[in-house]
Amino acid sequence: MRRALLLIAGLCAAFFAASVATAAAEDNGVALTPPMGWNDWYSVYCGVNAQLVEQTAQEMVADGMKAAGYDYVNIDDCWMAPSRDSSGNLVADPTRFPDGIAPVAAYVHSLGLKLGIYEDAGTTTCAHYPGSFGHEAQDAATFASWGVDLVKYDRCNIPYANYPGESEEQVQQTLYTRMSNALKATGRPIVFSMCNPDPGDDAWEWGAPIANLWRTATDIQDNFGSMLANFEDTVDHFEDAGPGAWNDPDLLQIGNGGSNLPEYKTEFSLWAEMAAPLIASTNLATLTHAELAIYENPNVIAVDQDPLGQAGVPISRVNGLWILTKQLSDGSRAVLLFNSTNTAAVISTTATAAGLPSAPVYQLQNLWTNAVTQTGGAISAFVPGHGVAMFKVTTVAKRPAHKLPPHTVLSLGASVPELGLGSSTTVSESFVNYGVSDVKKLRLSLSARPGWQVKALGRPSAALLEPGQRFTVAYRVTAPPSGPPLSVSIFTGGASYDPLDGRRTASAMLGELVSSPVRAPFSIADATTHEASFGESGPSLAISARGLGVLNPPFGALPTDSYAAIYRHAGCRRSCTAQVTVTADPAGGTSGGAGLIERDDMNAGKHSRAGVVLYVNSNAAIVMAWNGSGGADVDHYVAVASVKAPVGLRLVRRDSTYAGYYSIDHGKTWNPVVTVTVAAAASVGRQDVGVFHASGLPTWTTTATFKNFRVR
Ligand code: GLA
Repeated sequence: MRRALLLIAGLCAAFFAASVATAAAEDNGVALTPPMGWNDWYSVYCGVNAQLVEQTAQEMVADGMKAAGYDYVNIDDCWMAPSRDSSGNLVADPTRFPDGIAPVAAYVHSLGLKLGIYEDAGTTTCAHYPGSFGHEAQDAATFASWGVDLVKYDRCNIPYANYPGESEEQVQQTLYTRMSNALKATGRPIVFSMCNPDPGDDAWEWGAPIANLWRTATDIQDNFGSMLANFEDTVDHFEDAGPGAWNDPDLLQIGNGGSNLPEYKTEFSLWAEMAAPLIASTNLATLTHAELAIYENPNVIAVDQDPLGQAGVPISRVNGLWILTKQLSDGSRAVLLFNSTNTAAVISTTATAAGLPSAPVYQLQNLWTNAVTQTGGAISAFVPGHGVAMFKVTTVAKRPAHKLPPHTVLSLGASVPELGLGSSTTVSESFVNYGVSDVKKLRLSLSARPGWQVKALGRPSAALLEPGQRFTVAYRVTAPPSGPPLSVSIFTGGASYDPLDGRRTASAMLGELVSSPVRAPFSIADATTHEASFGESGPSLAISARGLGVLNPPFGALPTDSYAAIYRHAGCRRSCTAQVTVTADPAGGTSGGAGLIERDDMNAGKHSRAGVVLYVNSNAAIVMAWNGSGGADVDHYVAVASVKAPVGLRLVRRDSTYAGYYSIDHGKTWNPVVTVTVAAAASVGRQDVGVFHASGLPTWTTTATFKNFRVR
């Protein structure tokens, strides 16, 4: 067992140079920089209507988003009536848009904004409204007559059978070209946004001559793992983007509640660095000040909107630590240091590695804190897990640069990533001067949460740090003797120093996972590819794990047994009742969850035919799943009720028959889920029985907690 960490820090340094070919772009004269705006999809899905669109447009004016550059107000699927009129024209749904689309467009235009709309290249849209197949010219003319400024064009329900011998991608090229030409023929400048992100579509290879943007990744969800996957699916197509033609990793999720603020800053920074469209898909009226400040960060928007239109180039990606550099029109570079892991880490490069000419000194502007410093070449930061540091790096003359404080980095490192309650380890704290001038009177400190003991093992101060020098202090830290089964404890490092005028401070945070060991009669099992962590404390159990889950993953992927469990070996003899309360289940992926598991051998993976699971899944539904076929896997399931933890789960076994129940009133009432009979091989006699957790995503660790697990 072991694992995880987090987070936070101040300050930074390192770089490079890249030259990128610009693709032959759509020449309709629009989207010369990546489109910015709003789209309703992820806030209301099929709930769009005229009132929402108009209110959102007002909101964009009132909250400063319009002034920050957001100008497209986009209607997604479900705006249409179920059928065309007698002349074959598209008609807006009379309830959602009682006066049609034209007055909505006019209203949006009156506020100085633009209107986008959604259609589909197939016979129907993804939500089964009339598609444009065979009506391309007619629909393009309709959109132009309404005053539409952007068309998002989807790829659901395309009649591929009409094109024997052609690949789906070839058919899409034909149909998307048809709509592209139809839009151009209207004479109205309309942004053409292709939405065809299925594996094999590879729209970045052929989209530029016909479209202003094309999707590079599947529909995004508001969690870090999904955001990371869409970034990874997009970042290597940097050569295909340029003015008028952009990679689209899907809509921004900032404000939808599934990620924390640093993760939302990460999403915004990555999208800007990739020169992706900045289209918010959330309820703008309920954004917090902090979320709005992310959308309106002028420094990061300027990186996205730079007229050169170069997408950021990844120059390093070692162990989940990314470095990207984006060439800007004024000769500077936007350098992004991105930590996709769960653990705070130092990420470093240099100005020349980021593409700047060799020089004795550079100016560094931190695009999130606005701090401006000078560096001799290093660009470095102690970046929190899931976080970024983003800099604009410019060459400057030596003399004015000396008036700036030096670029410095404060960082923390623990000798072990996971510590038992009551145990000790060493944490080191380092401060580096990357500037071209001295740092004086440096003092470092380290603090921990109440109950911890911290002792400096050396003198935590230095009179002078010359350019390039590092100063390190080690501390012995001892965890409190008791606590929850698994928790992240934060160490906070502090530095105070004289750069050239007055005193400055910096801080850095590191999370250390603290666990209370699981003891007999419990055992642990870990079928994930990343080490899971386990803890037991009084009646509480906790599991921190990745893993795709116990069910077959979606989208035709191979079945998986990828979860972590705390269990009683042979704890169920033919008949037993297992019960637990799931107190927290933060799983995010489709097949993730937390709950009870029974199988012949918890540790044998595929060699033990998977038995039965009863759990809370990532959509907060109660799922009972079992091996009904006798194959290797859990292959049947039933989902009921949508509930929030805490949830009681009870699994009653009589030989190969299992009955699942759940309780949301602390065990007063037990509601049946389903009673099932599993295949003989998946219930051979005595079985292992326990609690399990899987995050549902291969890139993401989450922690589930349980109370009062017992087997009778
Ligand atoms: C597809 C697209 C989404 C959204 C929906 C609407 O899933 O990828 O962006 O437009 O259709 O039905």
